[in-house]
Amino acid sequence: DWIMGDYIEEAVAKIREQVGDEEVILGLSGGVDSSVAAALIHRAVGDQLTCVFVDHGLLRLNEGAMVMEMFAGKLHAKVVHVQAEAQFLGHLAGVTDPEQKRKIIGREFVEVFKAEAAKLKAGNDKLQGAKWLAQGTIYPDVVESGGTKTKKAITIKSHHNVGGLPEQLGLKLLEPLRELFKDEVRALGVALGLPADMVYRHPFPGPGLGVRILGEVKQQYADLLRRADAIFIEELRGWKDEATGKNWYELTSQAFTVFLPVKSVGVMGDGRTYDYVVALRAVQTSDFMTADWAELPYGLLKKVSGRIINEVRGINRVTYDVSSKPPATIEWE
Ligand code: XMP
Repeated sequence: DWIMGDYIEEAVAKIREQVGDEEVILGLSGGVDSSVAAALIHRAVGDQLTCVFVDHGLLRLNEGAMVMEMFAGKLHAKVVHVQAEAQFLGHLAGVTDPEQKRKIIGREFVEVFKAEAAKLKAGNDKLQGAKWLAQGTIYPDVVESGGTKTKKAITIKSHHNVGGLPEQLGLKLLEPLRELFKDEVRALGVALGLPADMVYRHPFPGPGLGVRILGEVKQQYADLLRRADAIFIEELRGWKDEATGKNWYELTSQAFTVFLPVKSVGVMGDGRTYDYVVALRAVQTSDFMTADWAELPYGLLKKVSGRIINEVRGINRVTYDVSSKPPATIEWE
């Protein structure tokens, strides 16, 4: 629309003026903020932007491919895809404490990103190393880091919008979304040509499936969880509520599957199974500080559980989490 068009033009001009002919590096997480920042900066300076996409192996099904397809394929942006799954899982082996897991994932993320940034900063052509570090910081992040922080807010911020990183890397900071609220960031993303599906996705934590696999994170658990979660999300998107005309993905604020590393007995055909359990979690909230569990239609729950148990060999039981926040949190870890 008109106003958004004007806004983009202004923002693009400002970025061009700031950056000049220098190179920019941006850490792409697959989340909304870094994606919109990347699309905007790419619009402004094209190939002067290099995105570094650190895939920690704890993303949802096909997410890595989707990010690459969107940025490298459709937008023709320069993207370095760092496949660091083995490294992350290696460091997580044997670790069961949730905060410890968060710390390790956050720390490794910074390490991997720093190594890639250092390579880009050195540059092929010594005159053209990167000078700028771009981040998808939005207005609420700015406010949050000035005010009181909860333990989790610090973790969140120390994960993707890393304090001190520009100094460590000797880079200048570029934050083109600093004045925008979340809904403005989303509208901007759509105006820049990002798919609405992607821009209006539920929030996904930085540590990803790392905090949705209870206790020790293992490759096998992550693979099972990815497939179960993809079924849940697909069915939520496909199940329409007659009264509102919206689907249940739109009617919930956050919905996901949690992997429980315990086995329960089941039957299949003539045989007994002894397999893993997952929990479905779906909440409605306006601020994520408090949340109600969503009253999903029984028919939807039935379809999801039937599909998961039939299609994902290794899971034989599906439960639904009926805990509100507080006292439960939205995530299980
Ligand atoms: P809780 O579980 O505390 O979650 O009720 C509130 C919101 O925060 C998200 N969350 C995180 N996001 N890194 C993130 O980037 C984290 O470590 C983290 N922990 C929780 C959660 O998904 C929910 O939207």
